[in-house]
Amino acid sequence: MTVHIGAKPGQIAETVLLPGDPKRAEWAAHSFLEGVELVNDVRGMLGYTGTWNGHRVTIHGSGMGMSSLSIYANELIRDYGAKTLVRIGSCGAMQAHVALRDVVIAMTASSISTPSSAILREVNFAPCADWGLLHAAVTAAKARGVNPHVGGIYSSDTFYDERPDLTEQMTRHGTLAVEMEAAELYTLAARHGARALAILTVSDHLQTGEALDSTARESSFGDMVEIALMAAFP
Ligand code: ADE
Repeated sequence: MTVHIGAKPGQIAETVLLPGDPKRAEWAAHSFLEGVELVNDVRGMLGYTGTWNGHRVTIHGSGMGMSSLSIYANELIRDYGAKTLVRIGSCGAMQAHVALRDVVIAMTASSISTPSSAILREVNFAPCADWGLLHAAVTAAKARGVNPHVGGIYSSDTFYDERPDLTEQMTRHGTLAVEMEAAELYTLAARHGARALAILTVSDHLQTGEALDSTARESSFGDMVEIALMAAFP
């Protein structure tokens, strides 16, 4: 057991899918895995382990924002030996050619700061995805008839952003979308020798103001779970 995860040693798989919402972890585990076992419910942050096509997988909530994800990713990697971590979540589109429901696979994740900034200090570290996972996810998406956008995203510290100037600059620099977790996930994976990737679906659009309702968000979520599993076990 760790401070935030109640799993016993060996109950967490080497491959972990990380949705932000613990209820999504519950839904995905019961929809896609066999032999599902609840391995964590500390503070309501649900984690389940089961098998997919014979491979052991844990699906565990990360919470929202880099501070929350950092707690779970640190403990999963350092205490439970997780080696492959795939975030599955939503994002806000920043480019006109990126539409609602599109899939975005994050090659890099920029940020103003992450919980790791205290360690990296003056360095503008460039958090990037694991190439093998990224490549496998693109292949898996295409096999499912999904044509993903692949490129840089922005991991924000805030959902309700009061920085239109920053959004404008990120958009101008080709950033595909904004979310709130990937930069810290990629940085932690790099530090601890793990593999990481973020697969996102567009839930809202910063330029048009459109947004998906919760039912539409759920149907896109299933696609991401399958792409993530196929990428982890190509
Ligand atoms: N996740 C989904 N949409 C988002 C947005 N607009 N900003 C930050 N995170 C998000």
